[in-house]
Amino acid sequence: MSEERLPIQDEIIEKVVKRTNVLVYASTFIVIVAMFNIMAPDTAERFFGETEELMEPEIIPMAEDIPDDLIENGIHMRTGLIVDDGFEQVKVTCLACHSAKLVTQNRADRDGWKKMIRWMQETQNLWDLGPNEDIILDYLAKNYAPVQEGRRANLKDIEWYVLEE
Ligand code: HEC
Repeated sequence: MSEERLPIQDEIIEKVVKRTNVLVYASTFIVIVAMFNIMAPDTAERFFGETEELMEPEIIPMAEDIPDDLIENGIHMRTGLIVDDGFEQVKVTCLACHSAKLVTQNRADRDGWKKMIRWMQETQNLWDLGPNEDIILDYLAKNYAPVQEGRRANLKDIEWYVLEE
Protein backbone atom coordinates (compact mmCIF):
# COMPACT_ATOMS: atom_id res chain seq x y z
CA MET A 1 0.00 0.00 0.00
CA SER A 2 1.22 3.45 -0.84
CA GLU A 3 2.37 5.71 1.99
CA GLU A 4 2.12 8.82 -0.13
CA ARG A 5 0.26 11.71 1.47
CA LEU A 6 -2.44 13.66 -0.23
CA PRO A 7 -1.83 17.40 -0.70
CA ILE A 8 -4.64 18.11 1.77
CA GLN A 9 -2.85 16.03 4.38
CA ASP A 10 0.32 18.05 3.84
CA GLU A 11 -1.62 21.24 4.33
CA ILE A 12 -3.11 20.02 7.58
CA ILE A 13 0.25 18.91 8.90
CA GLU A 14 1.75 22.28 8.03
CA LYS A 15 -1.02 24.11 9.87
CA VAL A 16 -0.67 21.95 12.94
CA VAL A 17 3.08 22.50 13.01
CA LYS A 18 2.64 26.24 12.69
CA ARG A 19 0.13 26.36 15.52
CA THR A 20 2.29 24.22 17.75
CA ASN A 21 5.20 26.54 17.09
CA VAL A 22 3.16 29.56 18.07
CA LEU A 23 2.10 27.82 21.27
CA VAL A 24 5.68 26.87 22.07
CA TYR A 25 6.93 30.42 21.49
CA ALA A 26 4.14 31.91 23.57
CA SER A 27 4.66 29.60 26.51
CA THR A 28 8.42 30.06 26.38
CA PHE A 29 7.90 33.80 26.54
CA ILE A 30 5.54 33.46 29.50
CA VAL A 31 7.99 31.23 31.34
CA ILE A 32 10.85 33.68 30.72
CA VAL A 33 8.80 36.63 31.95
CA ALA A 34 7.76 34.68 35.03
CA MET A 35 11.35 33.66 35.82
CA PHE A 36 12.53 37.20 35.25
CA ASN A 37 9.92 38.44 37.70
CA ILE A 38 10.96 35.96 40.32
CA MET A 39 14.71 36.32 39.91
CA ALA A 40 15.04 40.04 39.24
CA PRO A 41 11.85 41.72 40.41
CA ASP A 42 13.28 45.23 40.25
CA THR A 43 14.50 44.94 36.70
CA ALA A 44 11.35 43.13 35.67
CA GLU A 45 9.25 45.92 37.05
CA ARG A 46 11.15 48.35 34.90
CA PHE A 47 10.18 46.43 31.80
CA PHE A 48 6.74 45.18 32.60
CA GLY A 49 5.37 47.01 35.60
CA GLU A 50 4.63 50.44 36.88
CA THR A 51 7.62 52.47 35.83
CA GLU A 52 7.13 55.97 37.12
CA GLU A 53 8.68 55.51 40.52
CA LEU A 54 11.61 53.42 39.33
CA MET A 55 12.44 55.51 36.31
CA GLU A 56 13.03 58.64 38.36
CA PRO A 57 16.41 59.85 37.16
CA GLU A 58 19.34 59.19 39.41
CA ILE A 59 21.00 62.31 40.59
CA ILE A 60 24.46 62.26 39.09
CA PRO A 61 26.67 65.17 40.13
CA MET A 62 27.19 67.34 37.08
CA ALA A 63 30.60 68.80 36.44
CA GLU A 64 28.98 72.19 36.98
CA ASP A 65 28.17 71.19 40.55
CA ILE A 66 31.82 70.60 41.36
CA PRO A 67 33.36 73.75 42.78
CA ASP A 68 35.80 75.36 40.38
CA ASP A 69 38.50 75.60 43.03
CA LEU A 70 38.39 71.93 44.03
CA ILE A 71 41.77 70.32 43.34
CA GLU A 72 42.50 66.77 44.46
CA ASN A 73 45.84 65.03 43.90
CA GLY A 74 46.83 67.72 41.43
CA ILE A 75 43.66 67.25 39.35
CA HIS A 76 41.23 70.07 38.78
CA MET A 77 38.12 68.12 39.63
CA ARG A 78 35.62 70.03 37.52
CA THR A 79 37.52 69.52 34.29
CA GLY A 80 39.79 66.57 35.10
CA LEU A 81 42.80 68.54 33.88
CA ILE A 82 46.16 68.26 35.61
CA VAL A 83 47.01 71.46 37.46
CA ASP A 84 50.40 72.68 36.28
CA ASP A 85 51.95 75.67 34.55
CA GLY A 86 49.68 76.59 31.64
CA PHE A 87 46.60 75.01 33.19
CA GLU A 88 44.70 78.33 33.25
CA GLN A 89 45.46 78.99 29.59
CA VAL A 90 44.35 75.52 28.59
CA LYS A 91 41.20 75.81 30.67
CA VAL A 92 40.24 79.12 29.11
CA THR A 93 41.22 78.22 25.54
CA CYS A 94 40.64 74.53 25.07
CA LEU A 95 37.30 74.13 26.80
CA ALA A 96 35.58 76.85 24.80
CA CYS A 97 34.25 74.37 22.22
CA HIS A 98 34.39 70.91 23.74
CA SER A 99 34.74 68.98 26.94
CA ALA A 100 38.08 68.57 28.64
CA LYS A 101 37.79 64.84 27.99
CA LEU A 102 38.98 65.36 24.42
CA VAL A 103 42.14 66.79 25.91
CA THR A 104 42.62 64.42 28.85
CA GLN A 105 41.93 61.29 26.79
CA ASN A 106 44.55 62.16 24.22
CA ARG A 107 48.29 61.65 24.37
CA ALA A 108 50.88 63.17 22.06
CA ASP A 109 54.27 64.76 22.04
CA ARG A 110 54.65 68.48 21.47
CA ASP A 111 54.64 68.04 17.71
CA GLY A 112 51.52 65.90 17.84
CA TRP A 113 49.68 68.46 19.96
CA LYS A 114 50.77 71.21 17.59
CA LYS A 115 49.32 69.23 14.68
CA MET A 116 46.00 68.85 16.51
CA ILE A 117 45.89 72.58 17.14
CA ARG A 118 46.68 73.30 13.49
CA TRP A 119 43.97 70.85 12.45
CA MET A 120 41.44 72.63 14.64
CA GLN A 121 42.55 75.95 13.28
CA GLU A 122 42.18 74.77 9.71
CA THR A 123 38.91 72.91 10.07
CA GLN A 124 37.20 73.89 13.32
CA ASN A 125 37.63 77.67 13.46
CA LEU A 126 40.10 77.59 16.29
CA TRP A 127 41.63 81.02 16.51
CA ASP A 128 45.30 81.99 16.52
CA LEU A 129 46.52 81.30 20.04
CA GLY A 130 49.26 83.94 19.92
CA PRO A 131 51.73 83.82 22.79
CA ASN A 132 49.52 81.31 24.61
CA GLU A 133 50.35 78.65 22.05
CA ASP A 134 53.79 77.93 23.48
CA ILE A 135 52.48 77.90 27.04
CA ILE A 136 49.67 75.52 26.04
CA LEU A 137 52.00 73.26 24.05
CA ASP A 138 54.44 73.07 26.97
CA TYR A 139 51.61 72.09 29.28
CA LEU A 140 50.18 69.46 26.92
CA ALA A 141 53.53 67.95 25.94
CA LYS A 142 54.50 67.62 29.59
CA ASN A 143 51.24 66.44 31.12
CA TYR A 144 49.64 64.56 28.25
CA ALA A 145 52.70 62.97 26.70
CA PRO A 146 52.53 59.57 25.00
CA VAL A 147 52.20 56.91 27.68
CA GLN A 148 55.53 55.16 27.10
CA GLU A 149 57.36 58.45 27.46
CA GLY A 150 55.20 59.66 30.29
CA ARG A 151 55.89 56.70 32.54
CA ARG A 152 59.24 57.98 33.65
CA ALA A 153 61.37 60.93 32.73
CA ASN A 154 64.17 60.22 30.30
CA LEU A 155 67.52 59.67 31.96
CA LYS A 156 69.60 62.80 31.77
CA ASP A 157 73.07 63.86 32.87
CA ILE A 158 74.16 60.37 33.69
CA GLU A 159 77.68 59.92 34.92
CA TRP A 160 78.96 56.74 33.39
CA TYR A 161 81.57 54.79 35.24
CA VAL A 162 83.51 51.63 34.53
CA LEU A 163 82.45 48.63 36.52
CA GLU A 164 85.26 47.24 38.59
CA GLU A 165 85.96 43.59 37.99
C1 HEC B 1 36.98 76.73 18.13
C2 HEC B 1 36.60 75.55 18.82
C3 HEC B 1 37.68 74.71 19.45
C4 HEC B 1 38.61 75.10 20.38
C5 HEC B 1 38.77 76.45 21.02
C6 HEC B 1 39.40 73.93 20.65
N1 HEC B 1 38.96 72.87 19.94
FE1 HEC B 1 39.64 70.97 20.05
N2 HEC B 1 38.26 70.38 18.72
C7 HEC B 1 37.27 71.18 18.19
C8 HEC B 1 36.38 70.37 17.40
C9 HEC B 1 35.14 70.87 16.67
C10 HEC B 1 36.86 69.05 17.49
C11 HEC B 1 36.28 67.81 16.87
C12 HEC B 1 35.33 67.27 17.88
C13 HEC B 1 34.81 65.95 17.50
O1 HEC B 1 35.38 65.29 16.63
O2 HEC B 1 33.80 65.58 18.09
C14 HEC B 1 38.03 69.11 18.32
C15 HEC B 1 38.78 67.99 18.65
C16 HEC B 1 39.84 67.99 19.52
C17 HEC B 1 40.63 66.85 19.86
C18 HEC B 1 40.44 65.46 19.31
C19 HEC B 1 41.26 65.33 18.07
C20 HEC B 1 41.18 63.96 17.50
O3 HEC B 1 42.10 63.64 16.75
O4 HEC B 1 40.25 63.23 17.80
C21 HEC B 1 41.57 67.24 20.71
C22 HEC B 1 42.66 66.41 21.36
C23 HEC B 1 41.38 68.65 20.93
N3 HEC B 1 40.31 69.09 20.20
C24 HEC B 1 42.17 69.42 21.75
C25 HEC B 1 42.04 70.79 21.90
C26 HEC B 1 42.97 71.59 22.61
C27 HEC B 1 44.22 71.09 23.33
C28 HEC B 1 42.50 72.86 22.55
C29 HEC B 1 43.16 74.10 23.12
C30 HEC B 1 44.37 74.50 22.50
C31 HEC B 1 41.27 72.84 21.76
N4 HEC B 1 41.03 71.55 21.38
C32 HEC B 1 40.49 73.95 21.50
C33 HEC B 1 37.13 72.53 18.36
C34 HEC B 1 37.89 73.30 19.20
